[in-house]
Amino acid sequence: MIKPHGSDELNPLLVSDPAENEKLQNEANGLKSITVSSAAAANAVMLGGGYFNPLTGYMNKADILSVAQGMKTTSGLFWPTPVVNMVQDAGDLAAGDRIALKDPNVDGNPVVAVMDVEAIEELSGDEMVAVAEKIYGTADMEHPGVSAFMAAGNVALSGPIQVLNSSYFETDFGDTYKTAVEIRDEIKARGWNKVVAFQTRNPMHRAHEELCHMAMDRLGADGLVIHMLLGKLKAGDIPADVRDASIRKMVDIYFPENSAMVTGYGFDMLYAGPREAVLHAVFRQNMGATHLIVGRDHAGVGDYYTDFGAQEIFDEVPEGALELEIFAADHTAYSKKLDKVVMMREVEDHTKEDFVLLSGTAVREMLGNGEAPPKEFSRPEVAQILMDYYQSLDS
Ligand code: ADX
Repeated sequence: MIKPHGSDELNPLLVSDPAENEKLQNEANGLKSITVSSAAAANAVMLGGGYFNPLTGYMNKADILSVAQGMKTTSGLFWPTPVVNMVQDAGDLAAGDRIALKDPNVDGNPVVAVMDVEAIEELSGDEMVAVAEKIYGTADMEHPGVSAFMAAGNVALSGPIQVLNSSYFETDFGDTYKTAVEIRDEIKARGWNKVVAFQTRNPMHRAHEELCHMAMDRLGADGLVIHMLLGKLKAGDIPADVRDASIRKMVDIYFPENSAMVTGYGFDMLYAGPREAVLHAVFRQNMGATHLIVGRDHAGVGDYYTDFGAQEIFDEVPEGALELEIFAADHTAYSKKLDKVVMMREVEDHTKEDFVLLSGTAVREMLGNGEAPPKEFSRPEVAQILMDYYQSLDS
């Protein structure tokens, strides 16, 4: 089976032994505590589940700057995005403290992790901008990832953590949320060798569905892991439970039995385009996938990235740094001429009018009006779930 990133064995930071977990919980109740940002809590969940192997906690300033600049930590580990616990003000905390990190996303703010604070370091305004420009390609506060990064604060608390739970992901998405350890185990149990991961934060329309089939066929894969983001999104994106229901319906009806696993992970969307695509590759390798589909404007938002920038960045990954390979897909769309979904570049005789192409805004408008998009664009069963959701917004 494909090795995790940076180590032979996966080292999840979740304390899974019930007695140890209870002991840590009791200790946490007596520690100094802070309520962390949603992004920092999500980082803890990713570290807990083994997705961010081999990291052991939150990065310090030198690592943040090094990762932003050159996609590697100061110790030389290949890593594409800072994994941080940023606060606005560290208050009375000091290096050497052992502290409890409280979860902002769960009622009552339970402790999500315990941290040994190794350093408390401020990033200057210029350093924050430089990091944003490297990671997001912009420091524009209109960019949802940049504004979340800037809002969390400019003081980095760094050091190792032990994770107590998976925040709200396990409770709210019990069937879908999986740790990297669980997915690895399931892949092994199914005897899959070549495994394609599909990243998504959207419902899956026909273009996505066929993209998965094409990747599986062309790679000769044993199985597909649909791996949806379950954390925070920008306003206007479709909530995870609705996406989950529509994806499950599509897989039930249109995928051969046992060919696809429907799973999700607990992370807030960065909208970092190319850099996030590389992070996606790292944590898909950790969960045991051998390939990751990277299509058009992967992890993008607005007009910040080029259509295929998230594929091109993989040319900058040093030889041997990643074992997982990407399946670089062209723009897929339904061809009226051929009566099937195709990669647009592969049908040279087509003009734009030969494809069923709808903008996200047009699709949202149709669904909101209770009107199903054409069946070439959306499976009717998927469209129904999305129409119900959009119409519930109006009432
Ligand atoms: S993402 O932010 O998670 O990347 P989304 O769920 O829309 O957004 O996309 C999931 C994956 O499908 C990404 O790899 C994206 O590039 C790819 N993708 C989505 N639509 C298309 C399309 N029409 N053609 C090619 N690739 C696509």
